[in-house]
Amino acid sequence: MTDLVRLEVADGVGTIRIDRPPMNALNAEIQHGLVDACREAGERKDVAAVVVWGGEKVFAAGADIKEMETMSYTDMVDHSALLQDFTRALARLPKPTVAAITGYALGGGCEVALACDFRVAADDARLGQPEILLGIIPGAGGTQRLARLVGPSRAKDIVFSGRFVGAEEALAIGLVDRVVPAAEVYDTARTMMARYAGGPAYALRAAKEAIDRGLEVDLDSGLEIERMLFAGLFATRDRATGMRSFVEKGPGKATFEGA
Ligand code: HXC
Repeated sequence: MTDLVRLEVADGVGTIRIDRPPMNALNAEIQHGLVDACREAGERKDVAAVVVWGGEKVFAAGADIKEMETMSYTDMVDHSALLQDFTRALARLPKPTVAAITGYALGGGCEVALACDFRVAADDARLGQPEILLGIIPGAGGTQRLARLVGPSRAKDIVFSGRFVGAEEALAIGLVDRVVPAAEVYDTARTMMARYAGGPAYALRAAKEAIDRGLEVDLDSGLEIERMLFAGLFATRDRATGMRSFVEKGPGKATFEGA
């Protein structure tokens, strides 16, 4: 794993820290690092949920333009798969995730945030997909995930114009879920994820998969995905513990014993 992306774990919550001052421009090393960090966070039993964090000043100002500037069409045919891999790795991480956004979340940075389950933004944060101003379009899932999150017209406005979206507007259109003072962003995101530590990991995983996979297919297929995942949870100890506990007038809550 690269030093530019670190997985730090405390009390059941993993933090994927992007650390490339001054703007956390996402070069290929970071993109590979994000894939590795997501894989590790997904596999580790001591990680129940994940915060993605770029530090106190900036989330990420996008893919590294200086690295891309000299790339040809054929270079990008090869490289573009990686651009989608690092956001897909985050979106497919089988645990709750939240982006803790300070400063700028632009281009690939905004796409990293879009690949998380939730987004907490600083009141002075600025999000956007300014790729159009570089003569390109979002390439790490932005055209797809932004439209699914805020609807096609709002996504087109943001992508066509390349304008920056302030935190209040982002909250109003559902691009972020909470806005707090900058100094509270990380702690707020961590607290959101800490509630899942000790929770029923397999049910959380199934809930995330049912919602995300269901959004990609027609309703009947989505209901079938839900049905199979629902039935599968009857093989878990969490399900047995949770229901027995309720019936015996206990707390009625599944634990993080797993399987
Ligand atoms: C490479 C970048 C960068 C980037 C900033 N820098 N963003 N380098 N790639 N995406 C560098 C600047 O060149 C500068 O380096 C230093 O960081 C500080 O940036 P400034 O521009 O001086 O800071 P400021 O005036 O505060 O403006 C901040 C900013 C602006 C608004 C974020 O830097 C900006 O517009 N950046 C580009 C945003 C963008 O277009 N993102 C989309 C990228 S394309 P020096 O050496 O001069 O100090 C993309 C495609 C996605 O993401 C495809 C899939 C991943």
